[in-house]
Amino acid sequence: MTTKPILIETGDHSHTLFIPEMDEYYHSRFGAIKESLHIFIRNGYEKTNKKDPLHIFEVGFGTGLNALITFMKALQDNRKIFYSGIELYPLEPSVYTQLNYPKILHVDPSIFLKIHELSWDREHRFSNNFTISKIHADFLHYRFTRKYDLVYFDAFGPDKQPEMWEESRLKTIFEALLPGGIFITYSAKGSLRRTLIKTGFRVKRIPGPPGKREIIFAIKPGK
Ligand SMILES: C[S@@+](CC[C@H](N)C(=O)[O-])C[C@H]1O[C@@H](n2cnc3c(N)ncnc32)[C@H](O)[C@@H]1O
Repeated sequence: MTTKPILIETGDHSHTLFIPEMDEYYHSRFGAIKESLHIFIRNGYEKTNKKDPLHIFEVGFGTGLNALITFMKALQDNRKIFYSGIELYPLEPSVYTQLNYPKILHVDPSIFLKIHELSWDREHRFSNNFTISKIHADFLHYRFTRKYDLVYFDAFGPDKQPEMWEESRLKTIFEALLPGGIFITYSAKGSLRRTLIKTGFRVKRIPGPPGKREIIFAIKPGK
């Protein structure tokens, strides 16, 4: 991406970013934090039967919002999380330092900045509960090196970046998930649902966050 993303306030006052050249947002305009809590935390993290330790992979690390909220949950639940997030276009400090997530979530801003400042492509023991690896790579060519309990699939939309949602890519995720592993995303597209089923997932549509009727929840059978 060549142009600088534009900071926008969403419906719950939390920020998102807009990419003019793609005409695409990083989050729902109805509320970025609301969306993250509903989709990735309530319907992802909280559906993992309190598994401890829990291994999470995020497609599209972006603003680090999902990582920050997951870190806070891990602390609150005293649960050990191993978090990996892949990102091809890391944000510049001039962008991530503007994001208002710590203020809205009542968390020390230095924690959020520290997550962003961690070096890429190595594992960091961020706290007793939270170990994080930020992977600077192209998901389209990424080969998983371990298995995960949960995938936060937060790529740009299938209309804007269809290659991220292709069957071959979803298949690599299926293979990287442990039996009983969860794939959660914000999309409710029929074509995605059909591809996930074809790949081997058990799929259901569940209620979405504000502004979105449904989202897709998929689970790898076998447990
Ligand atoms: C919808 S945004 C969501 C980001 C993030 N989860 C957040 O809450 O800010 C999608 C993210 O995927 C990243 N991305 C786009 N193409 C990618 C690729 N081929 N490999 C890895 N990341 C990619 C974008 O740069 C962007 O950060």
